[in-house]
Amino acid sequence: MTASQIGLHPIESASKDELVALQLSRLATTLHHVYNNSPVYKRKFDDAGVHPDDLKTLSDISKFPFTTKDDLRDNYPFGMFSMPMDDVVRVHASSGTTGKPTVVGYSQNDINVWADVVARSIYAAGGRPKDIVHISYGYGLFTGGMGAHYGAERLGCTVIPMSGGQTAKQVQLIQDFNPDIIMVTPSYMLNIADEFKRQNVDLSKLNLRTGIFGAEPWTEAMRNEMETSLGIDAIDIYGLSEVMGPGVAQECIETKDGLTIWEDHFYPEIINPVTGEVLEDGEEGELVFTSLTKEAMPVIRYRTRDLTRLLPSSARTMRRMDRITGRSDDMMIIRGVNVFPSQIEELICQTEGLAPHYQIELTKRGNLDSVTVYVESVKPISHDAQQALEKTLLGKIKTYVGISCAAVITPPCSIDRSEGKAKRVLDNRDRQG
Ligand code: DLL
Repeated sequence: MTASQIGLHPIESASKDELVALQLSRLATTLHHVYNNSPVYKRKFDDAGVHPDDLKTLSDISKFPFTTKDDLRDNYPFGMFSMPMDDVVRVHASSGTTGKPTVVGYSQNDINVWADVVARSIYAAGGRPKDIVHISYGYGLFTGGMGAHYGAERLGCTVIPMSGGQTAKQVQLIQDFNPDIIMVTPSYMLNIADEFKRQNVDLSKLNLRTGIFGAEPWTEAMRNEMETSLGIDAIDIYGLSEVMGPGVAQECIETKDGLTIWEDHFYPEIINPVTGEVLEDGEEGELVFTSLTKEAMPVIRYRTRDLTRLLPSSARTMRRMDRITGRSDDMMIIRGVNVFPSQIEELICQTEGLAPHYQIELTKRGNLDSVTVYVESVKPISHDAQQALEKTLLGKIKTYVGISCAAVITPPCSIDRSEGKAKRVLDNRDRQG
């Protein structure tokens, strides 16, 4: 059978040489496009003393300057666009934690490509035409809802555009409409799973077989937890609004070994986040993307701040990336030790009696940063059992993460539930400082 007969785009199983040739010609076109149409990129290239004609091989990309979130903020709202506003058919924005949102724009062709890569992603996750897809990513300026929606429609699925929130109603509709696939953040899936329990839903009566989870970091331990408790395949989807939205990279259900990057549209590099030096495949660093086909707002060497490493191809021709360890902004430096919330999540999920609902609070005691992990017990427990669990968790954190911290085991349902991206870290250092 040929690739297209089993539903793959031909490039997904093309030779590496074909892929590289396509990337090179698309990259050259993109560099010329931004140089000729974006005053911001023309100035950035001129300042760096590079011209699109300097690109001879893919590795020449390292001669070009990076793009950062600050570039988008400085040119708020539409200054990064490389097309006249008349040709921009849609705008999305991400709120970020501080200041103005970062705004992105799409041409009609960009919207079509986005639908194609999301359709490809859902297919890679095991979705097929005619599947019913329940979408609980938020609709609106966030790219999750609409990105998933157009992709699922493109694949030929029946879409339930539920958006986030109204958790009891989500569960009601999942029972009534019986979707095959749910697309949602992993933290909101946990919230929906709690509601399944509250409503006494018999999971064996549901058709739900796959969850396509992304938009925030989650761990292998969380995958195990969700696959076991919900009886589904939990598959990772990655993306960011500056580069496109969901569907930049997708884990394949047959391998579940990290996310295949749709490299025919998004060219990845890994850099040392401090020096900007390009690292070899396999080395951990900051993920950087150059869009290869975007028209309205191409990005050249966009610094994602996400930390991961590139891996060789497996189920498709394109290279993979490892699960995101965390964002460089989320890294806590606790008395000299670098700590990511995901490391603590792993240990919580591996500790019997603890629920996967947690929050990490940072405070200041004198000059020292101190960490308190709040995590729920699965069921109400005695004071002694609570202390024993706290001791177990602290021991694991000390051994595997290498920091001393405090842990507070809280009763079931006491920690704020997410309806989108969870806020795992509460930084209260300024308050006490
Ligand atoms: O979160 C796009 C998206 C929607 C991806 C739905 C997947 C599913 P932004 O709001 O711009 O876009 O946030 C992008 O979210 O830089 C990562 O830090 C994080 N992120 C996204 N997917 C994953 C993932 C959407 N699978 C930021 N694992 C990115 C870990 C992820 N982090």
